[in-house]
Amino acid sequence: MAAGSIEKRILATAVVFVLAVSGVIALTVRLFGIGLPTCLTDVRPFREAKVIQQGPQRYEIHYVARMWTFEPAEISLLPGSTADIYLSTLDVTHGMQIVGTNVNLMAVPGAVNYARVRFDKPGDYLVVCNEYCGVAHHNMAGRIHGGADAVTIPPPAAPPQIAGGAKVIDDLGCTACHSLDGSPSPGGTFKGLYGSTRTLTTGATVIADEAYLRESIESPDAKVPKGLEPGMPPIPVAPAELRAILEYLKQLR
Ligand code: CUA
Repeated sequence: MAAGSIEKRILATAVVFVLAVSGVIALTVRLFGIGLPTCLTDVRPFREAKVIQQGPQRYEIHYVARMWTFEPAEISLLPGSTADIYLSTLDVTHGMQIVGTNVNLMAVPGAVNYARVRFDKPGDYLVVCNEYCGVAHHNMAGRIHGGADAVTIPPPAAPPQIAGGAKVIDDLGCTACHSLDGSPSPGGTFKGLYGSTRTLTTGATVIADEAYLRESIESPDAKVPKGLEPGMPPIPVAPAELRAILEYLKQLR
């Protein structure tokens, strides 16, 4: 039948087309190393705070928000400078308002938000978080010195230095909900946690080994211990940070 042969030809054309497109994709991956974009928070520039000077009064600022600080916390710019601001977050949703300007951005997990601002008044600009983000939200602030005579730029982001697990835990704000000395706290204490046997809300038991602790940091609600509430925000940690935390927890046994 005529209709049958037309359908066959359309089908064959479609198959050839799909094969051709797949071939082109495979070729670009092979020859040019072009991959699909991943989650934005995996992209290095947006995990690392940075100030890039592009001209005498032109800057690009990569702000990273995290509980409960902005990085870089302090920046000095020449008065009258214009800055392109890129804002991302490492944990929960934060806000970023630069008082005295019209910058009012949201730091949303997985996204990068942008604003351009001109600091035409000399003096200091306060950077505040205006989105409730946890117990120390009210302390989350930074500063832009717009009245500097000379430009001081924070030293280029050194490779993330891990000064030990205690500092990492402190920087990440863990101690807001977890005590270190065995005293009762909303998220339970870290003392004696490592290697202990935990009974979960499901009734199952697990050993708090490295795998369990890693999971509990990255996906806290996966295995919630009995007596604790779910709802801890997932904390993305770099591999070096995670190692430092685990080493520290081992010492707290
Ligand atoms: Cu960050 Cu409120």
